[in-house]
Amino acid sequence: MKALILAGGKGTRLRPLTHTMAKQLVPVANKPVLHFVMEQIAEADIKEVGMIISPETGEQIQASIGAGDKWGVNTTYIMQDKPAGLAHAVKTARDFLGDAPFLMFLGDNLIQGGVKELVAQFNAGECDASILLKEVTNPSAFGVAVIDSEQHVQQLIEKPKNPPSNLALVGVYLFSPLIHEAIDRIKPSWRGELEITDAIQELLNMGHKVTARQLTGWWLDTGKKDDILEANRVVLDEYASTRVLGSVDEKSQVAGRVQAGAGSEIIESVIRGPVVIGENCRIIRSFIGPFTAVGNGSILEDVNIEHSVILDRCELRQVPRLEDSLIGTGAKVGKKNSEHKALHLFLGDDAEVIL
Ligand code: G1P
Repeated sequence: MKALILAGGKGTRLRPLTHTMAKQLVPVANKPVLHFVMEQIAEADIKEVGMIISPETGEQIQASIGAGDKWGVNTTYIMQDKPAGLAHAVKTARDFLGDAPFLMFLGDNLIQGGVKELVAQFNAGECDASILLKEVTNPSAFGVAVIDSEQHVQQLIEKPKNPPSNLALVGVYLFSPLIHEAIDRIKPSWRGELEITDAIQELLNMGHKVTARQLTGWWLDTGKKDDILEANRVVLDEYASTRVLGSVDEKSQVAGRVQAGAGSEIIESVIRGPVVIGENCRIIRSFIGPFTAVGNGSILEDVNIEHSVILDRCELRQVPRLEDSLIGTGAKVGKKNSEHKALHLFLGDDAEVIL
């Protein structure tokens, strides 16, 4: 069993962050989403990983993952020159995959409980593909499946206008090498992409067996700002532990599950977990409320914040109340000490400010 991780694409729905950062590297609870994916693949005992990258962000992905030793896997990078669809990515990885069965994992998807059981079941069974489904309220935004009472897949449609069920395809798939034949038979969809959903439907048309499992735990597709905030909330809720390596002065209060990295200073502040603060941060006269992640080297002075994700090296000063915010690397948010009520903004392309 090999794994194919899809870490290409342009991340248009996460701009402006993705002007400078691959969407798979946006951190959730201070860890890039792609690192969670690598952990789950290693947990499923898969040793050979193919990583699909794009010309725009491939270097960053390689710098972040390296050879994969941190997770005990061997990583091969495969360049997809254009974002022509998930099935196109599989086609691009044909040489790497050979005739091995494989797990395909979208690099911006996070699922509760990992993929170990799913992989073990696929290995023990005799089906040609296995998909993971989750009930959603907006099925038109996803690939959608119809299944029978024995969890056999009957039909699949990508982003249907009139969804035949509310079961969305989660970005985790298991395939036998027969999928390559199916991919060779399909044509690009209306959005100009070779869809993996169409390829799996083609497997069914060819008379092969596709089974489904329904995910009971959470599934987070981190493609948009609110998805990142929700992922941050869920992951902090589940995994945050108490580990304060930096210094906390006598006037500060740290309550609940709070992590603070080495070299961080908490001065005259209140931190109420679950919260994760990176290394070398300075938190001064501030309140950091639940479900907040602060990246390395950030400074918060006279700030009241909760349910937010602050990336590395940010400077936030005199901000009376900040909620549901996602702030990119090196950004500065502050208040000018003057009577003048005008706003002074210097925003990157595609930035969003809600006052
Ligand atoms: C892709 C798949 C879709 C699946 C989704 C899961 O959608 O095409 O079937 O439900 O990933 O994240 P896309 O992210 O390309 O819109």
